[in-house]
Amino acid sequence: MPETFEPRNIIVTGGCGFIGSNFVHHVVREHPEVHVTVLDKLTYAGNPENIAGLPEDRVELVVGDICDAELLDRIVPGHDAIVHYAAESHNDNSIADPEPFVQTNVVGTFRLLEACRKHDVRYHHVSTDEVYGDLALDDPARFTEETPYKPSSPYSSSKASSDMLVRAWTRTYGIRSTISNCSNNYGPYQHIEKFIPRQITNIIDGIRPKLYGDGKNVRDWIHTEDHSSAVWTILTKGRIGETYLIGADGEKDNITVLRAILKAMGRPEDDFDWVRDRPGHDRRYAIDSTKLRTELGWQPQHTDFESGLESTIAWYREHEAWWRPAKAATEAKYAKQGQ
Ligand SMILES: NC(=O)c1ccc[n+]([C@@H]2O[C@H](COP(=O)([O-])OP(=O)(O)OC[C@H]3O[C@@H](n4cnc5c(N)ncnc54)[C@H](O)[C@@H]3O)[C@@H](O)[C@H]2O)c1
Repeated sequence: MPETFEPRNIIVTGGCGFIGSNFVHHVVREHPEVHVTVLDKLTYAGNPENIAGLPEDRVELVVGDICDAELLDRIVPGHDAIVHYAAESHNDNSIADPEPFVQTNVVGTFRLLEACRKHDVRYHHVSTDEVYGDLALDDPARFTEETPYKPSSPYSSSKASSDMLVRAWTRTYGIRSTISNCSNNYGPYQHIEKFIPRQITNIIDGIRPKLYGDGKNVRDWIHTEDHSSAVWTILTKGRIGETYLIGADGEKDNITVLRAILKAMGRPEDDFDWVRDRPGHDRRYAIDSTKLRTELGWQPQHTDFESGLESTIAWYREHEAWWRPAKAATEAKYAKQGQ
């Protein structure tokens, strides 16, 4: 299928976070004709080091808030697309303090949609499979684009709300939008509060990793590089007004992932502690990405989980200076929550 949209000058919100920065690297590497303006507030989760070293004539960083309508009015004109990654993204934080989630994820998306409406800019909305709630462990079903929304946490309900705004702005005002809902990402530059990097950095520090609940919760893992190629495919070839699910058939329960990390790091596979489950913890997520694969011809390339995990572990070993400053505060926050 030919590309129907050829962006030259895009805004990537949240481009200093985990998945956004991986997308910026992907675009710089794979699409030399494209200039990227990163718009990022640099919260605790945003780190300008994530895009340091990229060519200055290709990537510009604007530090600012997506909720700032005046700022958007200044920077959006002249761009042909916004790819929206910026969010408060951590479920545990949303349970402790939901307000920033409503502000950034809901109000921020509203501001971006208004800016797209005013300046006639193509919009791609990055969302999560968590909007669909969870599946029972013994249920063979997977999420599809038709699955009803049933979010469980303040985080997932704020993302679900933002998806609804996109649909309404598309239908009511004719915004040229697409939405993607992706499964759990792993890879370099992920904040150490998240499951895989937290376990890796604990093991590096000689701390026994911690596992929530019974460890049977299933997540559908995708390497962040595959997420990036999928978002690019949808941005350039996706049908306007459509939603595409992104997944790489990577279902694994948490205890299997933890044992794989321990094994890859040369530790006994039972060398971890159980901790109390978090409230409302979803049991199983699973994505059926048939629509994206058949309609747009996308395929994941990094489906060997063990090798993806090994390269991720190597990245955290080699980039201790990147994660070390956040480690003590992150563990202190978990300790307060008894996790
Ligand atoms: N992590 C996953 O596995 C996953 C899976 C599917 C979808 N997603 C979605 O992908 C997106 C990125 O997730 P992530 O894990 O990279 O998140 P992250 O927390 O690592 O990064 C979020 C980025 O957004 C920035 N930001 C936060 N509030 C902002 C604001 N008001 N204005 C401007 N910038 C702001 C932060 O500074 C940070 O750089 C989110 O929309 C998330 O819902 C994540």
